[in-house]
Amino acid sequence: MPKILVSGGTGYIGSHAVVELLGKGMEVVIVDNLSNSEIEVLDGIKSITGKSPHFEEVDLKDRKATYGVFEKHPDISAIIHFAAYKAVGESVEKPLDYYENNLLSLIHLLEAMKIYKVDHLVFSSSCTIYGEPDHLPVTEDAPLKKATSPYGNTKQICEDILQDTMKSVEGKGVISLRYFNPIGAHPSAKIGELPLGVPNNLVPFITQTAAGLREYLSIFGDDYNTPDGSAIRDYINVVDLAKAHVRAIGRLLEGKQKSSFEVFNLGTGRGVSVFEIIKSFEKATNQKLNYKVVGRREGDIEKVYADTSFANAELGWKAEKGLEETLQSAWRWEMKIRSNKMKK
Ligand code: NAD
Ligand code: UD1
Repeated sequence: MPKILVSGGTGYIGSHAVVELLGKGMEVVIVDNLSNSEIEVLDGIKSITGKSPHFEEVDLKDRKATYGVFEKHPDISAIIHFAAYKAVGESVEKPLDYYENNLLSLIHLLEAMKIYKVDHLVFSSSCTIYGEPDHLPVTEDAPLKKATSPYGNTKQICEDILQDTMKSVEGKGVISLRYFNPIGAHPSAKIGELPLGVPNNLVPFITQTAAGLREYLSIFGDDYNTPDGSAIRDYINVVDLAKAHVRAIGRLLEGKQKSSFEVFNLGTGRGVSVFEIIKSFEKATNQKLNYKVVGRREGDIEKVYADTSFANAELGWKAEKGLEETLQSAWRWEMKIRSNKMKK
């Protein structure tokens, strides 16, 4: 069975992908510096799968330490590269930290692929690189808009680095997965998202408000050109998203790629408004949510959702979980975090 290096594997999306890879019998080496995750995530993974991934506490900014992982595990077949800083607002305040971390980590892994003869890499990209698209649903060949944050720019630059690198080598392949809005948690509530401080993203803010940690949810604008006036996104269950990574790894290992650099949208294909999310959350969890409409958030776009036909056809993958089920999983996870905090 192939051995897969998962960078950022104790993080939110990475931990769910590790569960899916282990479930398919693959061996996993997690590389994470725990800058935005906790070591206890490994217990959650073991408890779900009955298996333990290898864990290397390494900062990918450190070239020598990164190479050390490949020395220790010479039989790595492919890499899934999740590790990155991802907070949009923070990236505006600390752009150099974002460029340094997100670009150097990728560069070191690409160097290691050359030296240690690893042929395949799956990259975590984002729909943020489409900006406000001209046509919806957005397809992979839509023109990329100028990034509105250093974070978004690191994703664009990383895709450029990957594309250029693939042109200069033979026999290697990269798949870049452009995630829309990942939400929810594993149905077991043993792993999930751990936002630090006040969440910026909608669903963690909703669950924290329902749990009484926040007074009310601010709805950023009800005057958009959408049916109910609130902004529209494509919210995808994190387990569905994780499963697409197993498909992408399979495609690379089986040599089914049509070119050395491929890009796939990962979403549900359905646009959902902020008001719809609130209604679904209240229905799915029997909670009443306090909210207020406030002004638009700077830099927000009106609507974006994915055309997923390329991923459906080529990866044989489709998002399956419904919105209410997904919001229930987010709520179960919030309850679990609260009860763990009470015990501490
Ligand atoms: P996360 O912060 O939960 O996970 C990232 C992990 O990478 C963390 O465990 C962190 O400790 C680790 N890490 C960061 N820098 C590192 C370094 N230099 N060396 C080693 N480990 C390092 O984030 P996530 O939500 O799981 O996102 C995973 C990937 O998906 C990121 O690349 C992110 O940009 C991308 N993405 C996320 C979203 C989202 O909404 N969550 C959307 C689109 C794309
Ligand atoms: C965020 C990131 C983006 C990333 C995407 C996917 C920002 C500015 N952008 O975008 O780079 O690719 O996640 O994970 O952070 N909302 C509220 N009230 C809140 C929070 C959000 O009304 O308290 C609204 C927003 O205006 C938006 C929707 O909810 O319409 C979703 O917001 P969010 O979860 O932050 O995701 P994105 O804006 O899509």
